[in-house]
Amino acid sequence: MDVTLRRVRHDDRDTFMAWFRDPILTRWHGDPGPHERDAEFRRIVRSRYNFVIETGGASVGHVAVECDWDNSTSAELGVLVEPGNQRRGIGTTALAQVIDFAFEQTDANQLWAGVVSSNTAALRLCRRVGLTEEDRVPEAELEDGQRVDHVYFSILADERRRSRLLEGKLDGSEPGQ
Ligand SMILES: CC(C)(COP(=O)(O)OP(=O)(O)OC[C@H]1O[C@@H](n2cnc3c(N)ncnc32)[C@H](O)[C@@H]1OP(=O)(O)O)[C@@H](O)C(=O)NCCC(=O)NCCS
Repeated sequence: MDVTLRRVRHDDRDTFMAWFRDPILTRWHGDPGPHERDAEFRRIVRSRYNFVIETGGASVGHVAVECDWDNSTSAELGVLVEPGNQRRGIGTTALAQVIDFAFEQTDANQLWAGVVSSNTAALRLCRRVGLTEEDRVPEAELEDGQRVDHVYFSILADERRRSRLLEGKLDGSEPGQ
């Protein structure tokens, strides 16, 4: 499937507002809230590291690397795929693309994602793209009255490079060889 990432534009506002309010997405992704949605969209549109996921010319999701480059070589990954387009491999492809973008185009050396243990899709997605479970904070959150863990995943630039070499997607030779 053709999955591409592009910069967020001002005319994506309505699409983002719909995603912010979608009950299936906000269960996992959170909603900035009625008074903060506009500010959050303005932050996203200004960012060089937030992208719309497109397939077949349609906007189907959002993927981002959230970072504070002044102080850190670590950055947080975030991704959502709208409910009608989930389970088609789009999240896997988009997250892999943004990981490669972050390691190739920014100072990030480590990327991480935090997921609640009841979010099966996100747990599987993280493992699928090669993130490793680094830490688990037990019973850190209440969800529908049930205690759930916070699970932290990460990947280093070298780990991603090794797995791409194994997949045959990178040429391992040094420049000039
Ligand atoms: C998590 C999310 C981005 C996955 O997107 P997607 O396009 O459906 O992902 P893919 O189709 O590439 O599937 C990735 C893996 O998740 C699994 N998966 C996807 N949806 C699932 C579901 N509802 N239940 C169980 N597993 C699911 C797939 O089977 C696949 O696992 P596998 O490779 O082991 O078979 C999407 O469910 C979503 O937007 N969720 C809400 C926001 C969110 O939780 N974001 C993550 C926070 S970091």
